[in-house]
Amino acid sequence: MAILASGSGSNAANFMVYFRNHPRISVSLVVSNNASAYVLERACKEGIPTAVLPGPAWEEPRQVLSLFDRYGITAVVLAGYMRLLPPYFINKYPDRIFNIHPALLPGFGGKGMYGMHVHRTVIAAGEKQSGITIHLVNERYDQGPILFQATVEVEPGDTPETLAAKVQKLEHKHYPKTIETHLLNNPNHTPA
Ligand code: GAR
Repeated sequence: MAILASGSGSNAANFMVYFRNHPRISVSLVVSNNASAYVLERACKEGIPTAVLPGPAWEEPRQVLSLFDRYGITAVVLAGYMRLLPPYFINKYPDRIFNIHPALLPGFGGKGMYGMHVHRTVIAAGEKQSGITIHLVNERYDQGPILFQATVEVEPGDTPETLAAKVQKLEHKHYPKTIETHLLNNPNHTPA
């Protein structure tokens, strides 16, 4: 698999560890749109190849796809990746691109809803519960079929920061496992 991430990459790092000695699945490439994203350092430390593809680079389908082909990528995991993927890329990996969202979709999703913005909005709305959603990616933000959700209580004293910490714990616990199960149950995909 390839991991796409824009920032710190705690989820990406968790995948690198989870699949380090896995017999069937490996993290073979880490891609960021942001050359200074900490996730790139984390990948280097693990000895995993990295690439930086800023927005304009995605306008060159042949070059982008040949990069992913070079590393034999058959699945793509978004881990805090803040850009919409172009249709040619989504068509290349049908039902093989995954995202995690730090709230219970279909609520609190859509354009601009990422990271702390989500937790601030959930708290401001007075929600009693939040959680995580792991879903397949299509061309619209946060709207692909849902594979897994888990919930967490929003308690009276919670701030966006304390809620973020609780949600992150859930993400680390469930994201790699959910993807592992999905890939092992849906094997042998050859990209289009
Ligand atoms: C995660 O909480 C992930 O759910 C969120 O970005 C964070 C990345 O953290 N993704 C979105 O908000 C997507 N809409 P990380 O860099 O520590 O893995």
